[in-house]
Amino acid sequence: MMPADPLEAVTHPDPYPYYRGLAAHRPFGFDERLGMWVAAGPAEVAAVLAHPDCRVRPPAQPVPPALAGTAAGELFGRLIRMNDGAGHAPLKAILLQLMASIDTGTARARAAMLAAALDAVPGMAPATGAAVNRWVSTLPVVTVADLLGLPVRAGVDAMTVAARVAAYAAAQSPLATAEDVAAGADAARWLNQWLLAAAEVPCQADDAGLLPALRQAAQAQDIAPEAVAANAIGLMVQACEATAGLAGNMLLRIGRSGPAVDGLPELAARVARDDPPVQNTRRFLAADARLCGVPVRAGDAVLVLLAAASCAASGDDDARPWTFGAGRHACPGDALAQALAAATVEALLARGALPAALAQAFRYRPSHNARIPHFD
Ligand code: HEM
Repeated sequence: MMPADPLEAVTHPDPYPYYRGLAAHRPFGFDERLGMWVAAGPAEVAAVLAHPDCRVRPPAQPVPPALAGTAAGELFGRLIRMNDGAGHAPLKAILLQLMASIDTGTARARAAMLAAALDAVPGMAPATGAAVNRWVSTLPVVTVADLLGLPVRAGVDAMTVAARVAAYAAAQSPLATAEDVAAGADAARWLNQWLLAAAEVPCQADDAGLLPALRQAAQAQDIAPEAVAANAIGLMVQACEATAGLAGNMLLRIGRSGPAVDGLPELAARVARDDPPVQNTRRFLAADARLCGVPVRAGDAVLVLLAAASCAASGDDDARPWTFGAGRHACPGDALAQALAAATVEALLARGALPAALAQAFRYRPSHNARIPHFD
């Protein structure tokens, strides 16, 4: 059965025929059921992401109401990912430069080293789905933390940090319960304090990580330390769910179609294109405008179907996968994310994880935008 709407498509067993139909027959239109515009064609998705009046948050609601007034909301309000204001441009420029300086080979080597530390943690032998879930939601996050220069090299520290980042990420979902939001606020406070404490411990110069450079560059431009801390945490959050989804979807692909013939980095790029972890994103109109030839009103919402654009686009293997977005908020972690997902799958396969068995017993985590398998 086809999904009933694009939100249901996210966790549908095979949403791609539905997406292809939408992209071909209704590339841009109003969905009465969802009460928002839906962009599905590649040209329309690109046009929405490039439109100056299409913002990442509703202008009157910079922080989701459930998080407002909590530590999680305070952190959210400082993220470059969630802001269009000119005030965020200097920090954004510094962060983008920093992300571009990360070498994917170094990231892979760090991930392999951290994987060895995770072996020492009880319950990590990947014989069970539960252990595989822990690996995919821990290794990418702690590798980003390690690249920043944060202390995660002991397996237990790594597990604690990854659990806090996951709790904070979960609180941002529209499906979050009151308990999830409370746990997210708690995690936001904990992560802030952990970052502060780490800043006070001097590191060896050659192994200090990227955070001291980020702090220094920000200080030179009078950027508040709180904004720097929030966005450093933001990088770990970005590495959390979507990268776990990419690694999980790679395991499913191997489980169904056999080992990756041309290597795991190539498989990561292919799965990012044809079973993408982030299936959609949203934009909100800041003014009345014309979008894809149609008049739209200030306050209208647009659901941007990255996954539909991806399966409708021609099979150009060199094109940037749509799952990483485009335009002003395009993901600066695309190469890193694919390297981390490949490194995580490599670590799991080397430890005897069985993709064919995993693909027999899983469901997708409930989500309105991310396709993340949860193995039973
Ligand atoms: C498979 C994994 C990932 C996927 C699919 C993904 C996807 C995305 C998408 C779609 C956006 C833009 C959202 C929008 O325009 O509404 C985004 C933004 C962003 N991503 Fe990623 N991401 C991934 C991993 C990462 C990683 C590992 C990092 C960094 C460590 C990262 C850092 C960021 C940042 C900083 C932004 C905000 C950029 C801005 O607003 O200017 N992402 N990501």
